[in-house]
Amino acid sequence: MDKLSSLTRFKKSCPYLGKTKTSTLRNLSTASSPRFPSLSALTERATKCPVMGPALNVRSKEIVAGYASVAANVDVDKIHKEKGVFPPPGATVAMCPHASAARAAAVMADDLAAAAAAKKGSKAKPAVSETEAAAAAGCPFHAKAAEDARKAAAAAPAPVPSHKAKPHTGYNYESFYVNELEKKHQDSSYRYFNNINRLAAKFPIAHTASVKDEVEVWCANDYLGMGNNPVVLETMHRTLDKYGHGAGGTRNIAGNGAMHLSLEQELANLHRKEAALVFSSCYVANDATLSTLGSKLPGCVYFSDTMNHASMIQGMRHSGAKRVLFKHNDLEDLESKLKQYPKETPKIIAFESVYSMCGSIGPIKEICDLAEQYGALTFLDEVHAVGLYGPRGAGVAEHLDYDAQAAAGDSPDPIKGSVMDRVDIITDTSDRKTVIGTLGKAYGAVGGYIAGSVDFVDMIRSYAPGFIFTTSLPPATVAGAHASVVYQKSYVGDRQLKQVNVREVKRRFAELDIPVVPGPSHIIPVLVGDAALAKAASDKLLAEHDIYVQSINYPTVARGEERLRITVTPRHTLEQMKGLVSAVDQIFTELGINRLKDWKLAGGRAGVGLADGVEDMEPMWNDKQVGLLDGTTPPTLRNGEKAIVDADAVFKARAVFNPLLGPISGPLQATRTVQAGRKEEMVVQTRQKLPLMKTGGASVPLREDIPVPPPSVTASA
Ligand SMILES: Cc1ncc(COP(=O)(O)O)c(C=O)c1O
Repeated sequence: MDKLSSLTRFKKSCPYLGKTKTSTLRNLSTASSPRFPSLSALTERATKCPVMGPALNVRSKEIVAGYASVAANVDVDKIHKEKGVFPPPGATVAMCPHASAARAAAVMADDLAAAAAAKKGSKAKPAVSETEAAAAAGCPFHAKAAEDARKAAAAAPAPVPSHKAKPHTGYNYESFYVNELEKKHQDSSYRYFNNINRLAAKFPIAHTASVKDEVEVWCANDYLGMGNNPVVLETMHRTLDKYGHGAGGTRNIAGNGAMHLSLEQELANLHRKEAALVFSSCYVANDATLSTLGSKLPGCVYFSDTMNHASMIQGMRHSGAKRVLFKHNDLEDLESKLKQYPKETPKIIAFESVYSMCGSIGPIKEICDLAEQYGALTFLDEVHAVGLYGPRGAGVAEHLDYDAQAAAGDSPDPIKGSVMDRVDIITDTSDRKTVIGTLGKAYGAVGGYIAGSVDFVDMIRSYAPGFIFTTSLPPATVAGAHASVVYQKSYVGDRQLKQVNVREVKRRFAELDIPVVPGPSHIIPVLVGDAALAKAASDKLLAEHDIYVQSINYPTVARGEERLRITVTPRHTLEQMKGLVSAVDQIFTELGINRLKDWKLAGGRAGVGLADGVEDMEPMWNDKQVGLLDGTTPPTLRNGEKAIVDADAVFKARAVFNPLLGPISGPLQATRTVQAGRKEEMVVQTRQKLPLMKTGGASVPLREDIPVPPPSVTASA
């Protein structure tokens, strides 16, 4: 197959090649680049492509390391002797065909690196040449070239070497890195990191590497848009003005301030637990807590759901305790495993409430039942649920007793017998209850936390290296997260609207037979079922529709279950939702991706199209909870409309900081810099009820074109 026909094969899947005429491609692939003669003009362009660029970068390193590893492992002279080759005196490496090939490859690698680094209009100049890197890795040919370059540079007027090549003497580290990366490419698990800059004044819009290139973000975990809520930003500005940026130390040394302590009190109250402890992220919270618990509890055994997050897996591994896996959400399997251990053995069941890649929800109540029966402690990760479920946003455990929790308001006392109270009960002695949450997702900040009994929290604070030996979060970040928690605790509207919008997008996908992994949560996993196709779909959405949805591949999901994981927020407009669905539909057609009917014919996959499976699940938020029955659901935004900021929640969030920052009133001050042409995106409003109309016995808000599905027949009034 000639070069061009191999390229045109990719026209269908590559947005860049797809747009270019075949005649142009032919010219580019046959012409040498004027600036990098060892490359074709097309290869030079490919170094700028977000897909090909990183691949070529890896390839160029492979070329270098390939030669370097040969040179490092064998004595080239010895090979020459063995082959009966006796270079004449004074012969240079250039006379050897092997060496020449290596040199040409090295030049090409140099050129690839230089082309990738070159900015438009600037002169080609590799920062650290591949030749030097290879020389450092022990390649004699590159060493010679590097030596020549050094000599030439020494003769030049003002040489400032950017990198000093050291002769390689031992293990070939670079080659090791390249081999490890190659494994990732081979099994399609190599991760591509897009440059996405979410704009505070244009949520959910971001710019890419180019400031002028704006795209819609449909996969962020800033699930409610709290990352730029005006009362959060105002609080952060005020805190920054008063306390500066960094925390100044670890929690134990100079980094334990009133902001940290009051946030912990707030989180304890949110979960109606005695105490809480904040970590620099929830990854760290999980790792530190599980590794500490498992290593301290004598003979502890972990029972871990197979879909648990990497941070929990790492924590359990680091503890050195035994880990028994149970099938995802499978109570029978869990019980059969729990039974095998005596009641006295310390056991911890580690699981999640919302599994973020498939959208399933853990059977919290039933796991608590088993934990009680078999004397286990339950460790519940509510990372993808806090802020999003429950009347105050405390998570799924709170949501399961929605009315009772709502009625209890801000009381710090646990509601006896409620699921939130039962989470993490250890046998029949005193209650020790733990919940894990993050500030980094629905609360739009960063940081993780645990909440539980005073002694449990103090034990982790006193023993967990991941808590003790790291700089604590900056006060402004902590204050922003705190304002966000308070705001969401007192305003349910964002949670309601999010669920309404999620329902709407799922409904539109279902209409077009686009396969969504069924689940009761806010996650919308669109099944693609192939790594390359999922990546191509994501790239096409970005390049052709200005829509950013990251593809999710192995090992985050099983091979063959690759998907586009879509997250909808209360701030996406109806027009944006329609645009997303139609773009996905178009791309499914263009790339020939399986629809639901195709999965049904194929016997189903990842819960999609299974003969005995469910096509849709009852959402966690019922019609009453989303406010469809009493008309309290905020309306879905239309393009040009301002998002609503709840006045009462703003008041409460501001009030929390009065003792430290002084009282504040008047308009919200979300920004401190004057930006030309900036328009406020959000408007502060007191709560409103939409007039209701009657449809088939149930009431829905009366507003034309609001995407609210009619209440389901199962809705309770
Ligand atoms: C279930 C789960 N737990 C913990 C974490 C880590 O949270 P953080 O991003 O706050 O470190 C994640 C991150 O995605 C997660 O999905």
